[in-house]
Amino acid sequence: MHESFRQRLSLWAEQGRLRRLRDEGSLDSRRAQRDGRELVNFGSNSYLGLERHPAVTNAAAAAAAESTSSTSSRLICGGSPLLIRLEEETAAWKGSEACLVLNSGFQANITLLPALAGRHDRILADRLAHASLIDGARLSGAELLRFPHNDLDALEELLKKPSTGMVFVVTESVFSMDGDLPDLLRLAELCRSYGAFLYLDDAHGAGICGPEGSGPAHGLGADLLLGTYSKALGSFGAYACLSAELKDYLVNSCRGLIYSTALPPAVPAASLAALAIVRSEEGQALRHRLLALGNELRRLLRDGGLDIRHDPTPIVPVPCGDEAATLRLAAALAEEGFLCPAIRPPTVPEGSCRLRLSLTAAHLDRDIRELAAAILRHHPQLKS
Ligand SMILES: Cc1ncc(COP(=O)(O)O)c(C=O)c1O
Repeated sequence: MHESFRQRLSLWAEQGRLRRLRDEGSLDSRRAQRDGRELVNFGSNSYLGLERHPAVTNAAAAAAAESTSSTSSRLICGGSPLLIRLEEETAAWKGSEACLVLNSGFQANITLLPALAGRHDRILADRLAHASLIDGARLSGAELLRFPHNDLDALEELLKKPSTGMVFVVTESVFSMDGDLPDLLRLAELCRSYGAFLYLDDAHGAGICGPEGSGPAHGLGADLLLGTYSKALGSFGAYACLSAELKDYLVNSCRGLIYSTALPPAVPAASLAALAIVRSEEGQALRHRLLALGNELRRLLRDGGLDIRHDPTPIVPVPCGDEAATLRLAAALAEEGFLCPAIRPPTVPEGSCRLRLSLTAAHLDRDIRELAAAILRHHPQLKS
């Protein structure tokens, strides 16, 4: 390996920021494996616990029994009736005119944004927008301006700046690391009144609330609503909800669609089955359970003396001070049987290290009680 890579690796190690692949992974949304031990999993994004639902796994298995590959890009011969059905059903769920399926949320953001914006345009992005949104904005070559997290007054100031090209507002409906939401109605209203294009990433919103679980941005009128099947739906892949005309434009300009092999049939088959559950009464019951678990965990932590935000989402950030303290807390919780990811720079800004607890409807009541008790025992702010 080249010496400069070696030097960077040693620097990250010195800073305590060396990441390692954890290939033992999640057993499912509720259980994870670490060093041969089973832990209760608070790191998964499969919020409804559908990744092992028999209807979903059977649909995937049946499709995989026919073929494991789409064999090419959709524009050549990789398309399938399953992808078309998934687009139709996703558009109906989201109440949008059309839908375009893409291979992953990350790939979608880094290829849709450059297809939409160019160097004469301007992108206004929330300071905490996901890495893929920022990378997509940078790849587009547009001028990139960031506004403080969820600060729509600051966004409005930026919208007032004269521009010769198009202006895009890029943000999230539910923030992946903080679990909070912008004032979505005002956001949409601002974009409308200043003629800006609203590109809203709904990856963590879809499935958890709204009519039939269609998310907090339902009916908002975002120009492009980006979602993933990889979070609450427990499957894989992404979709853009948009107008039929914009879909035609992107089919002819989005390089991630044109030059990448389409998803294999098992993936849209699993997503279709998951979507049917999300829209059903069973899905509604799972959402109620998820919300109740989130409320209970927040209540227990707050009653124990921690400063915990109240948001109607399954993402519960627990601020813990500096990086070393956050890592120590995560290690103490792992000892007690809980996987609680420590989130630190560069994923979040310096000084905002936290545990990011994510809940799933598959968690048991006792998981929540025991986790809260363990956090309160070990949290650095509560230890004398
Ligand atoms: C807001 C947001 N957008 C996009 C992605 C990427 O989605 P995927 O995991 O499907 O690539 C993530 C993943 O964590 C995310 O949090």
